[in-house]
Amino acid sequence: MSTARLYDNHGRRINYLRLAVTDRCNLRCFYCMPETGITYLPKKELLTFEEIERLIRIMATMGITKVRLTGGEPFVRTDLLKLIGRITEVPGINDVHLTTNGVLTAPHIPELKALGIASVNLSLDTLDKERFKLITRRDEFNSVWRTYEQLLHYNIPVKLNAVVMEDKNIDDIIPMVELTRKQPVSVRFIEEMPFNGEGMHYAQLTWTHKRIVEHLKQHYPLLQKIADPDHATAYHYQVPGYAGNIGVIAAFTRTFCGTCNRIRLTAQGTLKTCLYDDGVLNIRDLMRNEANDDTLKQHLLKAFNHRPKDGFEAEQHRSKHQPVTESMATIGG
Ligand code: 5AD
Ligand code: SF4
Repeated sequence: MSTARLYDNHGRRINYLRLAVTDRCNLRCFYCMPETGITYLPKKELLTFEEIERLIRIMATMGITKVRLTGGEPFVRTDLLKLIGRITEVPGINDVHLTTNGVLTAPHIPELKALGIASVNLSLDTLDKERFKLITRRDEFNSVWRTYEQLLHYNIPVKLNAVVMEDKNIDDIIPMVELTRKQPVSVRFIEEMPFNGEGMHYAQLTWTHKRIVEHLKQHYPLLQKIADPDHATAYHYQVPGYAGNIGVIAAFTRTFCGTCNRIRLTAQGTLKTCLYDDGVLNIRDLMRNEANDDTLKQHLLKAFNHRPKDGFEAEQHRSKHQPVTESMATIGG
């Protein structure tokens, strides 16, 4: 097993790969995708399982220890569980996580458990079936809720991710916190980012992480700040005596870049060294042009040595200085 450690040009350790396994999704969340007019990638553009496994093997020798599968919706990709099985076998990869919208997930949870999945992040913005339909443009609340129950039942560590949206789900904030009263769940409230295929919905972000925390404190005057794990993107809080905890993620304000340990691969094999960059290296084409492992490593190292210091710098470096508009489904969460 490798004990390699990988650092970027700002001295940040990189050990976490977020991998989008598809750009397709079975929901149409308002903050992620437009309702219609989405062009999906042809399947041959996607990294194959062989290509994914090869890349992860290489990255594991370089110092990547943690992998999260994202999308689009990972379960839309055929044979996802086989891929997870292959990734968990890679020497040096200690933990594999999954981010899912939960629509198709519930029946697969026993197998996820058997494969040793480390945790699951479930995207859920509301506890109300009708609001769910408005936000995701699909009537799938019940299947998502079943996934939540199954994850708890199988003792798989679960985080609920809720994007906080003016006029959409503000009334859900407190009921979602109440889930943490009895259940060992982490409920995370995320600032909305302009990654919806259309750009920013508002003149400026109204529900910043600060406002979310103020809102929480109004309802829970005893709300406690608790320790944030290393490299966390969330500020963690807890209502005293509650089983679970709360995270607030400054996804748009970008306060966490200084400790960022993560890189991303899009479904078509583009490396992103920041959520806000527009792709710094096309690894798929290198592989399809028969680059050997050493060559791939050299390209990766070069990219890691040119990382922007934060999401603002990354945004400035985007080609033609276009602001960020692409969908989160192509970025990979
Ligand atoms: N802003 C903030 N979070 C987003 N996500 C998707 N699009 C956006 C956006 N525009 C989050 C979803 C999901 C995760 C994969 O990314 O909540 O949990
Ligand atoms: Fe699908 Fe997730 Fe985007 Fe919603 S946020 S449309 S579930 S990829």
